Amino acid sequence: MIIDPKIEKYAEEFSSPQSVVLAELYRETNLKIMNPRMLSGQLQGRFLSMISHMMQPKNILEIGTYTGYSAICLSEGLQANGAIHTIEIDIELKSIAKKYFQKAGIENSVVPYFGDAMKIIPQIDVVFDLVFIDADKENYPNYYHLIINKVRKGGYIVVDNVLWSGKVVQPLKSGDKDTAGIFAFNALVQQDERVENVLLPLRDGLMLLRKI
Ligand SMILES: C[S@@+](CC[C@H](N)C(=O)[O-])C[C@H]1O[C@@H](n2cnc3c(N)ncnc32)[C@H](O)[C@@H]1O
Repeated sequence: MIIDPKIEKYAEEFSSPQSVVLAELYRETNLKIMNPRMLSGQLQGRFLSMISHMMQPKNILEIGTYTGYSAICLSEGLQANGAIHTIEIDIELKSIAKKYFQKAGIENSVVPYFGDAMKIIPQIDVVFDLVFIDADKENYPNYYHLIINKVRKGGYIVVDNVLWSGKVVQPLKSGDKDTAGIFAFNALVQQDERVENVLLPLRDGLMLLRKI
């Protein structure tokens, strides 16, 4: 956690609550699934929903579905005929994600993929309005290179964990590929003239990018 837990709790209390379905998904993920801290949670989830409502995207790409929490939040602002494409490498998460896409009533607007995002992204022939990157940190620069030409001008990219529990302001330990990936990603986008970016210290750090 980057910010004071009391401040984070206050921010949650004064943000809209998550839906009943999202609360149920949060509970089930915590009870049954490994690494439940990976799930976006109420505050970040409401932020993703707000971004989606602001943009009213037709096509969203998510890299890192996990149990489907952020996909449901991102889908909330989709246009009536819009779709969210979401990629997950762990096939064991398929049944819980599918169950909650149905409970949230979005099964017809979700296009789920199971496999390695590095291999799947090049096969998706869609122009995206919004991309959410939230998978293995080592590959963040690679994901960025793969998606940047699939995002329309004026489209947005949201990237999670860019503060990586504060490790970005500590010396890089040898062999720490995740932190190295985050360092490389943050440096890459900071000097990329195709985008404008702002790093928000929300939760574990969210980078917002607008393609110009
Ligand atoms: C932080 S979790 C995603 C959390 C989810 N976006 C949410 O907020 O509820 C990261 C997910 O990325 C998946 N992942 C890791 N490497 C991947 C890869 N190469 N391709 C696709 N998914 C991957 C992991 O299995 C994990 O479920």
